[in-house]
Amino acid sequence: MSRDALVFYSPVDDPVAWREALSAELPDLDFRVDPDVGDPADIRYALVWLPPKGFFTRFPNLQLVTNLGAGVDALVRRDDLVPVKFSRLNDPGMVAMMTSYVVFAVTRYARDIPVFERAKQRGEWDYVHPRALSDIKVAVLGLGELGGPAARTLASMGFTVTGWSRSKKDIEGVTSETGRDGLERVLAENEIIVSLLPLTPESRGLLGARELALMPKGAKFINASRGAVVDEAALIEALRSGHVGEATLDVFETEPLPQGHPFWTLDNVLITPHLASITVPKLAARDVAESIRRVRQGLTPLHEVDPGRGY
Ligand code: NDP
Ligand code: OXD
Repeated sequence: MSRDALVFYSPVDDPVAWREALSAELPDLDFRVDPDVGDPADIRYALVWLPPKGFFTRFPNLQLVTNLGAGVDALVRRDDLVPVKFSRLNDPGMVAMMTSYVVFAVTRYARDIPVFERAKQRGEWDYVHPRALSDIKVAVLGLGELGGPAARTLASMGFTVTGWSRSKKDIEGVTSETGRDGLERVLAENEIIVSLLPLTPESRGLLGARELALMPKGAKFINASRGAVVDEAALIEALRSGHVGEATLDVFETEPLPQGHPFWTLDNVLITPHLASITVPKLAARDVAESIRRVRQGLTPLHEVDPGRGY
């Protein structure tokens, strides 16, 4: 019986694909899928997405928790997380998929596609002369593993791009802003705002009524990070008044978005069910395996999360 096992838990990810991908990297790893964990004392590593309450307290020898995703907000705020090394995924597949979502959502607005979607419903030929992409100012809030490449790609397409993050960045074609003053400038000066901020105590409710009011009238808002970064009641109000002209929302404070929620009835809101990006096991397994190898040698895993900072 192995004493060096991994427990897998996810309501959305495929354990078979993960078992295959990880055993190609670490043939000696004993991969167990919850609830078939065998002796909990064997479990040294956990690979999890949204595990149920109390999940971790069963494993006295746990050494590494790897979050099956980029955002660790749901993990860092739980009270059963034993003090072990803690890492997130960061794989090229996830970056490419998030960039594709952001490019789609920004381009949809830049090319007035919602206008044509509505015109089609009315059966009308509604010509709107296209604008040069360089005349369209886009802001990306959060310039991390996902926000950085998304901002760079938008800039390379010809959009005028500004990014906002905690620390100053040097990304080709992207103006970097930081701090509260920087945020206010970014909101006031850009017509398309994309959130790729992690949810932390600092970013929760960061975009409230005051911040939304700073946006130019008719601004477009795209949220692909976490619903609670924006005050949803304030956003609904702004969408109803038309101050925020359109929104593309992939994430919500409560998921699945409940039936009857006002977002469902607003025709200036595009809703996608939290899938802007996903993890591709074949591409992510290399880093997960490398983290396990490192922890076996007493080293720090890749993409370690600082639970104090929250991302
Ligand atoms: P990272 O942790 O790599 O980057 C976070 C970025 O946000 C950094 O640039 C950081 O600044 C900035 N930031 C954090 N807090 C603040 C703050 N208080 N003020 C200003 N800037 C701040 O995250 P990722 O890019 O990997 O992912 C972003 C989020 O996207 C995830 O946390 C997750 O919630 C979400 N996500 C959503 C998915 C979906 O399908 N909808 C899929 C995957 C992720 P600095 O660089 O200076 O530290
Ligand atoms: C993530 C997500 O954080 O899918 O990876 O939301």
